Amino acid sequence: MGISITIASGKGGTGKTTISANLGIALAQLGKDVIILDADIEMANLELHLGLEGMKTTLQTVLAGEADIKDAIYAGPGGVRVVPAGMSIDGLRKIEYDRLGDVLEALRQMCEILIIDVPSGIGRPVVVSMSVGEELLLVTTPEISAMSDVLKTKIVAKKLGANILGVVINRALFDRTDLAVGEVETILETKVVSVIPEDPEIKMSLSAGKPVILQNPNARSVHVIRKLALELVGEEGSDEEIEIGPAPQEPQGEGIIDRLKGLFGR
Ligand SMILES: Nc1ncnc2c1ncn2[C@@H]1O[C@H](COP(=O)(O)OP(=O)(O)OP(=O)(O)O)[C@@H](O)[C@H]1O
Ligand SMILES: [Mg+2]
Repeated sequence: MGISITIASGKGGTGKTTISANLGIALAQLGKDVIILDADIEMANLELHLGLEGMKTTLQTVLAGEADIKDAIYAGPGGVRVVPAGMSIDGLRKIEYDRLGDVLEALRQMCEILIIDVPSGIGRPVVVSMSVGEELLLVTTPEISAMSDVLKTKIVAKKLGANILGVVINRALFDRTDLAVGEVETILETKVVSVIPEDPEIKMSLSAGKPVILQNPNARSVHVIRKLALELVGEEGSDEEIEIGPAPQEPQGEGIIDRLKGLFGR
């Protein structure tokens, strides 16, 4: 039975789908058997990031009771398997969210790491993923306006018993407008495990329909995402270091690495 990592945030547009796609592929490149699930059923963006739009059987059809989850898993780019959310507006009406918990359990049986890309906020798919999902990464931008939203998500996650691996700060500019790593850690009482820079390559690759990790493996953001993947599987960051500006301080990932080593060993 694999582990699941829910990629959640408070505010929308912080980079959950970007991180789900690229972190999933980075983990697959490390030899892990990865499924990425698009649980953002109403917006369904993951398929656009992975060039998998237009699939017939999707999470939507499974939650409508019209298909088996096994038939909604597709070979995605970079060695990952993907469950698209589906984009039918009519299909949304037929969804029964009560089925989602069983779907998540079933998917976990079929892979080593299930990455769950959830919508922003604390709606139904988020609550179910947090209840069933063992691990959680919180994604935020380094702005004060994002903090209250992600704090709310963190509090709900704790109440539901999710295991918070840490905070990923995305779109960091490394200037005075950014909150410092220490400030984010103090506000959220949670470790920052990765700081991903603002990187124009991410948008460029999205317009090319490919995740940045495949479109431009040398992009600054990719180095950081690969390092996070290495830390998650318990290998010390052997990826070459790159200069990403005056980062306030190094992410402190040691406790997580050790703990995940144990998790992956079970
Ligand atoms: N590090 C980054 N540098 C530059 N652009 C980024 C970065 N991360 C994400 N983006 C861009 O920000 C936008 C939102 O990203 P994404 O869709 O991954 O966010 P999200 O949290 O999944 O959004 P939603 O809440 O709507 O699901 C996209 O256009 C993406 O290309
Ligand atoms: Mg998204």
